[in-house]
Amino acid sequence: MPVTHTPNVPTLVILIGIPASGKSSFCRSYLYDSHVRINRDQLKTKYREHLLLDACICGRQSFVVDNTNVSRAVRAPFIAQARKTGFRVIGYYFSSMLNEAMERNRQREGAARIPDQGVAGMASRLELPDYGEGFDELWYVRMDGSGGFQVEEWCSGESCSHALVPSQSGPDMVYM
Ligand SMILES: Nc1ncnc2c1ncn2[C@@H]1O[C@H](COP(=O)(O)OP(=O)(O)O)[C@@H](O)[C@H]1O
Ligand SMILES: [Mg+2]
Repeated sequence: MPVTHTPNVPTLVILIGIPASGKSSFCRSYLYDSHVRINRDQLKTKYREHLLLDACICGRQSFVVDNTNVSRAVRAPFIAQARKTGFRVIGYYFSSMLNEAMERNRQREGAARIPDQGVAGMASRLELPDYGEGFDELWYVRMDGSGGFQVEEWCSGESCSHALVPSQSGPDMVYM
């Protein structure tokens, strides 16, 4: 897993992806032992999120924001606060087809399952991450088809093999 662990430099990891794109599973597999997890589904309120974030910042503890983080506006304050206090900032973008994410969401039980419109709405608000936002590292993640994840270096522009621009709409909308 390509997380760079620089000794004595804590990291903020920001996961970016529509619901059911695999963020929390990735966290469990790769960040469980090293990063405190900040997750809205678990904490329920922004107040608790802020308390935990402040504790991580003050204690120089690496942490991961395991929310959808689909817009720049949502990511910006996390990045700003972490950079100001000397954290490295690492982003993982979770590629997903909307129809596949919706299907995975439908398979979930109880409160973990959200309405289809919730998944679609998040997809429509998605702004792809960019180094200009202040990331020190950006990675592109996709499910590998056998229960794991494939992680590649982020790229953008014409030389990039990923289809970086989502098509406009529809159930087959592809996010890279
Ligand atoms: N690598 C994977 N390959 C196949 N299915 C996966 C993988 N990771 C997660 N899933 C399934 O996709 C669903 C959503 O995963 P989850 O990690 O909860 O996504 P998110 O946190 O982005 O909402 C879960 O039901 C999970 O079992
Ligand atoms: Mg999750």
